[in-house]
Amino acid sequence: MNTLKPDIYLAPFQGITTATYRKVYAGHFKGVEKIYTPFFTAIHKHKSLSAKAEELAITHIAKTKIIPQVLSKDADEMLRFASYCEAKGHDEINWNLGCPYPRVANKKRGSGLLMHPQLIGEILEKIEANTDIHWSVKCRLGYLSPEEILELAPIFNDSDLIELIIHARIGKQLYKGSTDLKAFQSALDSLQLPVVYNGDVFSVEDFKALSQQFDVSGWMIGRGLLVDPFLPAILLNFDLPPIAEQQLLIRKFIEDLYLTYRKQMNDRPQAINVLKELWSFMAYGFDKPQRIFNAIKKTNSFDAYETVVARVFSEHKWVGSAAELYKKSLLNDQIL
Ligand SMILES: Cc1cc2nc3c(=O)[nH]c(=O)nc-3n(C[C@H](O)[C@H](O)[C@H](O)COP(=O)(O)O)c2cc1C
Repeated sequence: MNTLKPDIYLAPFQGITTATYRKVYAGHFKGVEKIYTPFFTAIHKHKSLSAKAEELAITHIAKTKIIPQVLSKDADEMLRFASYCEAKGHDEINWNLGCPYPRVANKKRGSGLLMHPQLIGEILEKIEANTDIHWSVKCRLGYLSPEEILELAPIFNDSDLIELIIHARIGKQLYKGSTDLKAFQSALDSLQLPVVYNGDVFSVEDFKALSQQFDVSGWMIGRGLLVDPFLPAILLNFDLPPIAEQQLLIRKFIEDLYLTYRKQMNDRPQAINVLKELWSFMAYGFDKPQRIFNAIKKTNSFDAYETVVARVFSEHKWVGSAAELYKKSLLNDQIL
């Protein structure tokens, strides 16, 4: 087990970990070294990125580094993305080889590309020969089978990739079923570059068990952190206020996020929809997740949203990751 303070990364979530979320999150919570942007795709020209300039404008928030992510099977498109990001001051890019959705995977993109090791090798060679920027990969163990990563290992080992983040599932599983820890260990044994673990870290217990099992260079955490934004600080043993005070800090975070979205979206009601996506996870940090989420889901005006959120904080208790309510809902399909 790695005895140094582990590096913790925040996983990307399309539609949730937006530039606004990243800025507000990193302003309120400590413990995350790197935050990955949701994937960029369809980069036909530099201009296609100018429309999204704000999403790529920031390279660091305090000490937290922002890593742009690209979803592509086209080296030229990736080079276009790299040169745009480099001009904005980024020095690292992540290549998405993990997206599981059939409409992506069937086009040999995301985890669908994992079945084509030769193509991955060719793309890596081309992008590495033509950029100075650092590249990392976020992948799964495979698309159809967890053995695919073993075929890819020599290619990754020969590359200049600075690290490989592995979500310990296969693409076909989407987000269902359990992580395959045995296959993750086999992958780890065959890889000679820094490997970051990703998948189902929802609590201190999950983290303890996994960090006793795997000697990895870092941990990428997604849903567990969306549910409990304090999770990285908890895992790193930072001093944290008692749970009742955490509830006040969570409230400040949610209010800041709400106001920042409203401002950024010129008070368009769309701001509530973005927040609803986040609440589908955050509700699980409270004692009655399903009841809370159902109430938030129904709101369709700023007034209604504010009233429901005020009620959540006055009538419900923040329980954070310790209660493992999100995990229970996944495991048992429980109504909580
Ligand atoms: C709604 C949603 C959107 C996601 N968007 C992305 C994305 O843009 N890029 C990516 O690499 N992974 C994406 N993921 C995968 C997560 O980053 C992460 O790998 C996955 O949730 C497993 O980690 P966890 O168990 O810690 O949540 C997404 C997952 C979900 C559920």
